Amino acid sequence: MASADDRAAFIRANTAILSTPHVPEIRLHLADEATALWQKTEDDLGQIGLPPPFWAFAWAGGQALARYVLDHPDVVRGKRILDLGSGSGLVAIATMMAGAKSATANEIDDFAYAAINLNAALNGVSLSILPGNIVGLSDWAGIAEASPDADPDLSVPCPFDCILAGDVCYEKTMSASIVPWLQVQVRRGVHVLIGDPDRAYLPSVGLRELVTYSVPVTRSLEDKEIKRTRVLRVL
Ligand SMILES: C[S@@+](CC[C@H](N)C(=O)[O-])C[C@H]1O[C@@H](n2cnc3c(N)ncnc32)[C@H](O)[C@@H]1O
Repeated sequence: MASADDRAAFIRANTAILSTPHVPEIRLHLADEATALWQKTEDDLGQIGLPPPFWAFAWAGGQALARYVLDHPDVVRGKRILDLGSGSGLVAIATMMAGAKSATANEIDDFAYAAINLNAALNGVSLSILPGNIVGLSDWAGIAEASPDADPDLSVPCPFDCILAGDVCYEKTMSASIVPWLQVQVRRGVHVLIGDPDRAYLPSVGLRELVTYSVPVTRSLEDKEIKRTRVLRVL
């Protein structure tokens, strides 16, 4: 099992430090091809069954959210932010650069924790990492199964003022758990934004479009150079 130091060393050795295309103020450890990197991660670190290296890319939804908060800093200034499904840490980093009081990057991938730490240091910001799947946390969220029909205890406060989720609607079961959980946080008074490039499982209702960008993306991942990407407020 690789240590956190092994993961950080692997990321340094197998990514390049590049400006994020739609958010050039932020530099990240980025790759340009996923499959070979994924295989190399498993080979070099002697682990199998690792998730894809989402952390090595600036996904369209995250780029849109990062651009939005940097251009509209009032949305996050002085607030406690949660970046759900943080990947590289891009969105959390942007919120700190825009004046957030604190930013917490949540992920379920051990490799992402290393990438988030490296990328935060690269951009001179301090982030907290909240590891593991918090979607459905019963003591905080009160919606254990993340069912839209559940009756959550809305008196349980959310420890964040604003939750941002970049590109989390690409997979059916994932979207079906995350979106209802985000809706519950809205009912608790949390400001919730999603960044999304028209992924297949983005809900068609309950969202208000705030802005649309043309975001440069990685051709090997998206089979396109540019993706129309929206920032949406969860209602
Ligand atoms: C497409 S990537 C987006 C990363 C980043 N937000 C961005 O836009 O660049 C989706 C990320 O969500 C993470 N993820 C998937 N399910 C999750 C869950 N239940 N809780 C937290 N993170 C999750 C994955 O590990 C992955 O890093």
